Amino acid sequence: MIQFNHISKSFERNGKRFLATKDVNLHIAEGEFLTVIGPSGCGKSTVLNMCAGLMKPSSGEVLYRGQLVTGVNTKVGYMTQKDNLLPWRTVKGNVEIGLEIRGMSAREREEQSSAYIELVGLKGFENHYPQELSGGMRKRASLAKMLVYNPETLLLDEPFGALDAQLRLILQDKLLQIWRDTGKTIIFVTHDLDEAVSLGQRVAVFSKRPGTIKSVKEVNLSGKRDVFNIRFTDEFRRVHASLWEALKEEFMEEEERVV
Ligand SMILES: Nc1ncnc2c1ncn2[C@@H]1O[C@H](COP(=O)(O)OP(=O)(O)OP(=O)(O)O)[C@@H](O)[C@H]1O
Ligand SMILES: [Mg+2]
Repeated sequence: MIQFNHISKSFERNGKRFLATKDVNLHIAEGEFLTVIGPSGCGKSTVLNMCAGLMKPSSGEVLYRGQLVTGVNTKVGYMTQKDNLLPWRTVKGNVEIGLEIRGMSAREREEQSSAYIELVGLKGFENHYPQELSGGMRKRASLAKMLVYNPETLLLDEPFGALDAQLRLILQDKLLQIWRDTGKTIIFVTHDLDEAVSLGQRVAVFSKRPGTIKSVKEVNLSGKRDVFNIRFTDEFRRVHASLWEALKEEFMEEEERVV
């Protein structure tokens, strides 16, 4: 479905070029749920931006269903790290943007948007403006805005970072349910190793900048994933421990630099 082939991306700062990502190689199958984890600044959002066609790689190529991504990739829904809710539209107005563009009737839009607003737990806040919402509520509104459009692939950049632990579990569970029911392809970026292992069929660990893929581990769980109890399974502990070894090295060096 998605192929990152030897992707490198450099940016310029103060007249100097620096590498953000280096030789990222990763293929994601249709219907796969991949989670991505790595230190801050290693290029995770940059990789999603390239998949969404918002940025071009400096070298290498991104293929989507075998086609080179050259402009905005309309097949993917992208929930960016910073929410992009329009401040002059209410929650309902924001959620319905994509449906308006499609020319859907007001009644159908209303039906769809209220279902997704309820799904993310924002029922009662339909007529609030983004500035009247908490950080976590804004994240949930962005999630509804992306899901209502029903894209075949979801790119999610730390979607649940601002939520309390309980709500996070509930939304993880809902996302897994959507994934199981629809067979969507998902790339999910997170800072939280528990979350990465709970959700991903595979977890990709990025090295610190210039980010490259350090390790990819499968999480082979028998039966249906249960985010509420997965942490207590042997498979979770085993994969968590081995990924933590890979991640720790990256974070340790990061910490030394910060100190
Ligand atoms: N548009 C841009 N122009 C210049 N530099 C950029 C741009 N986007 C990203 N960078 C730089 O590229 C590097 C990778 O950034 P990116 O946002 O992809 O990191 P990240 O892994 O998503 O980090 P975080 O976990 O903190 O979100 C950083 O050093 C960042 O400053
Ligand atoms: Mg990021």
